[in-house]
Amino acid sequence: MKINIVYFSQTGNTRKVAKSMAEVFQSKGHDVRTLSFKKAVSDVFINCDLIGVGAPCFESQAPSPVRELLWDLPDLTGKKAFVFSTSGGGPGKVLYDLAKPLMKKGADVIGGFLCRGTCFYPVPCLVGRFPERPDEEDLAHAKVFAGSVIDHVSSGISGPMPGSRPDALKHGLGFYHIIGDLMNDSLIRLMMPKPKVDSAKCTACGWCVAECPTNSIILDPQPVFAKTCFRCYRCLTGCPEDALMVKWGIANFMVWTLYNQTFERWLGDIQKGEKIY
Ligand SMILES: Cc1cc2nc3c(=O)[nH]c(=O)nc-3n(C[C@H](O)[C@H](O)[C@H](O)COP(=O)(O)O)c2cc1C
Repeated sequence: MKINIVYFSQTGNTRKVAKSMAEVFQSKGHDVRTLSFKKAVSDVFINCDLIGVGAPCFESQAPSPVRELLWDLPDLTGKKAFVFSTSGGGPGKVLYDLAKPLMKKGADVIGGFLCRGTCFYPVPCLVGRFPERPDEEDLAHAKVFAGSVIDHVSSGISGPMPGSRPDALKHGLGFYHIIGDLMNDSLIRLMMPKPKVDSAKCTACGWCVAECPTNSIILDPQPVFAKTCFRCYRCLTGCPEDALMVKWGIANFMVWTLYNQTFERWLGDIQKGEKIY
């Protein structure tokens, strides 16, 4: 079978899951390609038998550049697909956000996988949660899931596979699903501060320009942010010169209000006994 796995990953967590799944497919003799969203053109989704689509959770949903790309895909009738994600404790509708456009395009989406990923979102109340995740155990679960994907597709049975997260194929009604629905990019831009440049440190190397998933940064001569910046803070977390900063102020409190540990345990996805730090 020809399998293409397309993933979006800013800090490497979702990439690790993609690579683990690819290892399983390869070991079973399938022709596998893993590639990042930036390199994914429509042909990648069409010229294969099985598509895997992965992305991290941002604000309890799939990142908007990923959603936009998926909704722009051509007809996928006859293709099998699965989705995967990494998140903190409030994944909300991220898996469904990935699955829904594929289903609407006619693909048979058989299931979804999710595990924790260390949170590098630099807002002080969240950064560093779930250290070292995905860990060996998470990746072992991802491999089991990939094995089940192959078994299910080979069985010829259509529809959901065993072992899939139920929230991959239908919109849940939980607190974080609702948060994911409410948080559109305009509201996020309003709530969350724009990164600022420390001109003494910035060398105008262009790293942030190349990394920005929405092409929202230009050099003039130092980084200038366009209105399309959707506050993923990739520029801030990865800047080689540590030359970008944010004044969190009330934004830290607002994020804490929604994503505090008590809410994530009661209303989110954190399992009994699961450690946050
Ligand atoms: C901008 C941003 C927003 C995030 N929002 C959420 C969220 O709403 N819920 C959650 O559970 N995790 C959230 N996270 C945590 C990420 O989903 C998690 O760290 C993920 O593993 C990152 O994957 P990556 O390394 O592949 O980019 C957020 C992270 C970032 C950077």
